[in-house]
Amino acid sequence: MIDTQTANVESAGLGRSSRRDRTITQVVPVTFTYPVHFTEHLFDPQQTLLRDILTGPEASGGQPPRVLCVVDDGVLAAFPGLEGQIQAYFAAQPGLTLVAPPLAVPGGERCKSDPGQVERVHEAINAHGIDRHAYVIAVGGGAVLDMVGYAAATAHRGVRLVRVPTTVLSQNDSAVGVKNSVNAFGKKNWLGTFAPPHAVLNDRAFLTTLEDRDWLGGLSEALKVALLKDAAFFEWLEANAAALAARDREAMDHAVYRCAELHLQHIAGSGDPFERGSSRPLDFGHWAAHKLESLSNYELRHGEAVAVGIALDCTYAALSDLLPEADWRRILAVLRTLKLAVSVPELWSGTQDATNPTSVLSGLNEFREHLGGRLTIPLLTGIGQPVEVHEMDHDILRRAIALLEDVQAQASSLPLSSPHTQGVL
Ligand SMILES: NC(=O)c1ccc[n+]([C@@H]2O[C@H](COP(=O)([O-])OP(=O)(O)OC[C@H]3O[C@@H](n4cnc5c(N)ncnc54)[C@H](O)[C@@H]3O)[C@@H](O)[C@H]2O)c1
Ligand SMILES: [Zn+2]
Repeated sequence: MIDTQTANVESAGLGRSSRRDRTITQVVPVTFTYPVHFTEHLFDPQQTLLRDILTGPEASGGQPPRVLCVVDDGVLAAFPGLEGQIQAYFAAQPGLTLVAPPLAVPGGERCKSDPGQVERVHEAINAHGIDRHAYVIAVGGGAVLDMVGYAAATAHRGVRLVRVPTTVLSQNDSAVGVKNSVNAFGKKNWLGTFAPPHAVLNDRAFLTTLEDRDWLGGLSEALKVALLKDAAFFEWLEANAAALAARDREAMDHAVYRCAELHLQHIAGSGDPFERGSSRPLDFGHWAAHKLESLSNYELRHGEAVAVGIALDCTYAALSDLLPEADWRRILAVLRTLKLAVSVPELWSGTQDATNPTSVLSGLNEFREHLGGRLTIPLLTGIGQPVEVHEMDHDILRRAIALLEDVQAQASSLPLSSPHTQGVL
């Protein structure tokens, strides 16, 4: 009886003898390469960049590449001729097939919170025969690129995606990376994939129609990456903050380029591009930012929320004697010159109880849950000097929130260098 059972287990491949316990360790080396171009007037028929990208060495089978274009409706509203221009561009390129007129999707966070939008993109990919040798081109702000990127990454296990970001934040940060996502269960970016794009094409002409809040908000990511990685870039931002706030295009060109470059270097050099560890070193200020976005019902833009998150974590670090007060002042002064708020009502509503989901403090645990593992928060010990901490004292956070409320209230009347604000820490 016993013998028979053993024989059955062994014949099913589940035997326990050492002869049958074997392991194959699989190693899959994969290198991703994609270009990030900085250009202007991408869809001008004289411009060959897009055609070259779509017909480059990876274009296969000798077939004219098929292309589906998905466009942010906010961009279509700002550029009424764009739809026709895209169609004219492809009509003038004999080697390319635009499978349908551009598909318009709602711009902003609402496209990430409505599962119907992913479905629409999937339906178009299916209806127009977009396969892994064809392309989806996504034109829009970070939200539309995240949503279309998620749809493209999940159709046929991943069709080629060309991102054409149209906001400061997407050109300098979100579109150059490897992540895409939509919101689910009331949580930001809950559904998503890591999927490097085929190419990123940054067209500076798109930035000219942005509302001030989107022109300025995206700069909080530049400030973030400067504070984490490049003190010289911080000094440049400090010196050029007034020009940036006045919509100087050359200054913005440099800010977008340097910020994108630092992001790309981080992704390539961090050793953890797909965030398998417990830390997200680039997500400085983001534990609070993500929570503030959802508490505001996405009325706050990501960049605006990141500005508040940076201010909060810097103030916390200063109150904890990690960050010198002089550095704290410089950072808050840059935020002020960029006209970015450092305190919003969502920051102080319900701050007493970190277990209450309406409190910004509950964002700490949600941040930990997103990656799993131990809570890991990047803070600063100086400009360009990050450090990771594994807990944050709630009382100090509440003091930081109260202090920022005062700083914000004074913002219109007193410069941070005023004697009236000296010694506030
Ligand atoms: N994938 C990532 O790694 C990553 C990183 C950071 C942020 N994000 C995501 O990016 C999103 C925020 O992106 P965003 O700041 O670009 O804002 P957004 O995509 O929400 O766009 C803001 C508004 O600007 C409009 N718009 C876009 N381009 C325009 C143009 N050229 N002229 C006029 N209006 C224009 C849009 O229609 C929208 O109404 C968030 O969902 C955030 O989670 C993703
Ligand atoms: Zn961000």
